[in-house]
Amino acid sequence: MKNKLIILASGNGSNFESIVKKLRNKYKIKLISENKDAYVLQRAIQLNIDYELINYKNFGERESYNQKLFEYMKKEDPDLIALAGYMKILPEYIVEYFSGRILNIHPSLLPAFKGLNAIKKAFDYGVKYTGVTVHYVNNELDGGKIITQEVVKIEPEDTLEMLEEKIHKLEHRLYPKVIDKILRKLTISRR
Ligand code: GRF
Repeated sequence: MKNKLIILASGNGSNFESIVKKLRNKYKIKLISENKDAYVLQRAIQLNIDYELINYKNFGERESYNQKLFEYMKKEDPDLIALAGYMKILPEYIVEYFSGRILNIHPSLLPAFKGLNAIKKAFDYGVKYTGVTVHYVNNELDGGKIITQEVVKIEPEDTLEMLEEKIHKLEHRLYPKVIDKILRKLTISRR
């Protein structure tokens, strides 16, 4: 049986697409989004990937949304969960339940430039090197154990747009590679 990966995404979904294209033959992939307007849902439809919309706006308060998400995730029982531009914070009980099974990708060399707009923050700061981090998720924002990092050099002539392009290109290569490595190990240890 194929290992199961759940991707949680709220927006554009370029990372979702690169993961799907590279790994769909090896693993069972499913998308969850809380944003009914997210472009990632269009991508899932075009790529013919199962998705679940848990529309955040239909829930009166955050906790009822979180409960619904938790129930759904437990039912799906994925081997791995990859956050890819998921714009909500997972509650502690979800992080604990799936401890060691949730990954995130962040567009900076953590612990530098945590939180939103990390690429712009690094660019505005004037650092000469930035990059991409893939890490486990814990209950601290962008604070879990680092799995891997790769560096991007900021050239003097780079604009913010050019830097964004470099970072995203790297993300699209790095994230599927890390996910594959982790899921492959699980497959081998189960044999
Ligand atoms: C990526 O830059 C990722 O590092 C960050 O959110 C962005 C998502 O981009 N966590 P996309 O939706 O995959 O295009």
